[in-house]
Amino acid sequence: MNHRHLALAAAFLLPALPAAAQGQLNLYCSATLEWCQPIARGFERETGIRVNLTQKSTGEMLAQIRSEARNPRGDVWWGGTGDPHVAAGEENLTQLHESPRIAELHDWAQAQWRQTQGRTVGVYASVLGFGFNTELIARRNLPAPRCWADLLNPAYRGEIQMANPNSSGTAYIIIATLVQMMGEEPAFDYLKRLHGSINAYPRSGTAPITAVARGETALSLSFVHNAAEEAAAGFPVGHAVPCEGTGYEIGSMSIIRGARNLPAAQQFYHWALSAPAQIIASQEAKKLQTMANRGVPLTDGAPNMATARIIDYDNARFGASAERRRLLARWDREVGALPR
Ligand code: G6P
Repeated sequence: MNHRHLALAAAFLLPALPAAAQGQLNLYCSATLEWCQPIARGFERETGIRVNLTQKSTGEMLAQIRSEARNPRGDVWWGGTGDPHVAAGEENLTQLHESPRIAELHDWAQAQWRQTQGRTVGVYASVLGFGFNTELIARRNLPAPRCWADLLNPAYRGEIQMANPNSSGTAYIIIATLVQMMGEEPAFDYLKRLHGSINAYPRSGTAPITAVARGETALSLSFVHNAAEEAAAGFPVGHAVPCEGTGYEIGSMSIIRGARNLPAAQQFYHWALSAPAQIIASQEAKKLQTMANRGVPLTDGAPNMATARIIDYDNARFGASAERRRLLARWDREVGALPR
């Protein structure tokens, strides 16, 4: 056998690896692990690039990226609410990137990219609302909540959960939404009154709806898609979009400044905006957000953003670092520190 034959024989013996079977990507993920994992595996399948996954809530991940700024360890930050991604861009912790897929995205996803001069882009969206355990509220004779005002009903004392806004992007959106809808002073009065009815402020934005599904708390402040996911999984969970109107998230993606695996990061970014990558949400992860790629249809049972009464959420103001820090410090001082 000559060299050419040897090479051919060797080629037949090799397993069929994708063309670029090399390199690695450090993926920072702020969606739930049930979605981060199939996204990581999907990209590995597509490219052969090994993905090292770290999952944390959005506020916690921003803190980690800040602390690693001089020696970045992450390459891409995918998922999690938009405001901390906007703050990271303003703090120069992330870098501009332009994908040819931008034109395939819904307006809100493109707007997130334009408003941050290309530092972050929308990958999914979801509406804020309430989740409740239908069996528990029936057993305790509690009304199903419909409006923000309903949550101050003394009957709900000790029955409501929301996440801690320092760690959770979801909970920060609750504060920002109320400030936008009511004005800052009435919003903080509302949060102080609500505090008396809160039984816990867990770190992650999805912990309260998980507690609702398990019957550990009657009500939660949650994205409505998370409540719909629990219902689809067979738990007695209902949800409501607040009657006065509500805020929403633009789940986002950013490339970290100083990414050591920049070509892999750019490849991931491009892939993650594609319809096949976004379909992983419904097909593998059973997620019910609205996907940014216009080619991805809304999954059956997913709450429809287009019909919800949503506010014109001010991403620039509430994503600004100084404003975010100020509101969180005020919440800690005037709400979180109060006895319940
Ligand atoms: C869940 C939701 C996502 C959201 C994320 C924020 O994973 O499904 O839509 O972006 O929570 O998490 P956090 O813990 O920061 O509130």
